[in-house]
Amino acid sequence: MDRTRFFVRVAALYALLGAYIGSHMAGAGGYELKTVHAHILVVGWLSLFSFGIFYKVFNIPKNSKLSLVHVWTSFIGSLGLTTGMWLYYVQPIEGMETFSMIFFIVGGSIMLLAFFTFALLVFTKGEWITED
Ligand code: HEM
Ligand code: HEM
Repeated sequence: MDRTRFFVRVAALYALLGAYIGSHMAGAGGYELKTVHAHILVVGWLSLFSFGIFYKVFNIPKNSKLSLVHVWTSFIGSLGLTTGMWLYYVQPIEGMETFSMIFFIVGGSIMLLAFFTFALLVFTKGEWITED
């Protein structure tokens, strides 16, 4: 898998969705989607795009297991976090409060794991992260 292409493409979809939700909020004048909008953009668009550029700039080995964990926790975590936020803050389906909260916590935790894996990656693969 091309990590840069994967992240940049997924980020582009988040950017589109986030900007659409922002426009909808501005137009409708309702702000219940504000947190979802903010995280779709700062996590889905900005963070995933940064990860895509990271793999382009630094030649992290393709067979790195840590990198594989980073890619998939980022993808699943960003989806889980933003979907969980939507379920939790908007409560689109009645009677699903507990499920929504657990979804939000699990999604957020997976995203946290993605950032943790990223930190671990940059500190353990230091030889690849250089200006030379
Ligand atoms: C089509 C483009 C966009 C529109 C129409 C839009 C619209 C909005 C609106 C209406 C709000 C709520 C403001 C309020 O609470 O009074 C908001 C909040 C926010 N937007 Fe956007 N937005 C857009 C793009 C972006 C982008 C590209 C980013 C980041 C990369 C972003 C990040 C945020 C954040 C972080 C908040 C929450 C701010 C806070 O909590 O005070 N937005 N946006
Ligand atoms: C593990 C990942 C994350 C979790 C679980 C998380 C969770 C949260 C929560 C619970 C709030 C409060 C929302 C509210 O009550 O309105 C919040 C707000 C916010 N977070 Fe995050 N966040 C995460 C990652 C990030 C990242 C990576 C950024 C920036 C790059 C970010 C930027 C913001 C901003 C700007 C706000 C204020 C937006 C608002 O007013 O709704 N978050 N976040």
